[in-house]
Amino acid sequence: MHFQRFIDKVAVVTGAGSGIGRACAERFAQEGARVACLDVNDAGNEAVVESCRDLGAEAMAWHCDVSNEAEVTRVFEEILARWGRVDILVAAAGIYTGSPLPEVSLAQWRRLIDINLTGVFLCNRAVAPTMMAQRSGSIINISSMAGKTSFPASAEYSASKSGVIGLTRSVAMDLAPYGATANAICPGNTLTEMVRRVAGIVGAKEGLTAEQWLEKRAQDCPMKRLAEPWEIAGVAAFLASEDARYITGQAIEVDGGMVMC
Ligand SMILES: NC(=O)c1ccc[n+]([C@@H]2O[C@H](COP(=O)([O-])OP(=O)(O)OC[C@H]3O[C@@H](n4cnc5c(N)ncnc54)[C@H](O)[C@@H]3O)[C@@H](O)[C@H]2O)c1
Repeated sequence: MHFQRFIDKVAVVTGAGSGIGRACAERFAQEGARVACLDVNDAGNEAVVESCRDLGAEAMAWHCDVSNEAEVTRVFEEILARWGRVDILVAAAGIYTGSPLPEVSLAQWRRLIDINLTGVFLCNRAVAPTMMAQRSGSIINISSMAGKTSFPASAEYSASKSGVIGLTRSVAMDLAPYGATANAICPGNTLTEMVRRVAGIVGAKEGLTAEQWLEKRAQDCPMKRLAEPWEIAGVAAFLASEDARYITGQAIEVDGGMVMC
């Protein structure tokens, strides 16, 4: 049983084709929003659009590489031309590589920073003038617990996610006089394709099956389990709701108690 807090609102979700982005797209659809789904994975993205429509929402897929400035600009223009406003942006598109520091090539560093950090910047910049003009709006950037603490073999990932927290604070300052908010969510390990992929690769290096590696990560967590994507989406929906109008510039852990500060 969900509220219907986003009727007549427009939500844009990057990385909508899988995992946390998918859960956010479906949550906003369920609560009455029109949903723009952006991803480079066209098949996954189309499937999410279908499931948003099954939930009764108007939804559209856009192929968009968030690290490509021209593509981001064009897609946001097309969304505005179609729906005339943007009330919510969830910037969830992201990748993880998991290489030990000596193996991180400069090309790998740049690619990850381009997607995980520059991609968030480009989408925040694309939507800011609209939210300023509307004098309302909510930006929710998906960072990570790795943006506040760190783990082995995550140099470029941690750097990108700390960067997202700093970027979000700055965006929040620019939007605040206009009544729009920007916050980051820092998920802990969440059961998505990304984590399953990591479990296979890193688990193998540690002599573990993917399932054993995931169980180990669950045992690291005070709540002794991983998150489900909908648990992240629920916080995104709260941050986009009227109940969160006075919350801005925050980086909120949703991690079962992994990082407490
Ligand atoms: N799963 C976790 O444990 C976890 C924890 C903390 C933070 N995060 C963050 O949450 C976000 C979503 O991750 P997820 O676990 O759902 O991963 P996922 O791999 O399931 O989904 C990520 C989506 O982003 C898309 N994407 C990748 N590069 C893109 C690009 N250049 N342009 C547009 N779309 C692109 C992928 O195609 C995919 O559909 C990421 O930013 C990730 O870093 C995930």
